[in-house]
Amino acid sequence: MTTMVCRCEDLTEDDIVEAIEDGYDEMEKLKRHLRLGMGPCQGKSCTLLAERILCRETGKDIQEVAEPTARPPSQPVPFSLLASPKRGEQDE
Ligand code: FES
Repeated sequence: MTTMVCRCEDLTEDDIVEAIEDGYDEMEKLKRHLRLGMGPCQGKSCTLLAERILCRETGKDIQEVAEPTARPPSQPVPFSLLASPKRGEQDE
């Protein structure tokens, strides 16, 4: 049976275990390798599950496993904002 861990990035428990076996044995490494926690929910659903899997597979305590760095998602910017003249140049 396949257990989904990160629904946003379509990652299963097997994907995470395989990555840990390949040497991605920290949450930050898993994040960068698998995009774990980088979906629309920003890891609210999957980070704790992945931490528990990492603890189980490496024998680390949950306090030893640091959460990955949280960064706000980038915002789309209208192209017109980038193409518009600088402030003050419109009047010249
Ligand atoms: S479930 Fe993993 S980022 Fe949303």
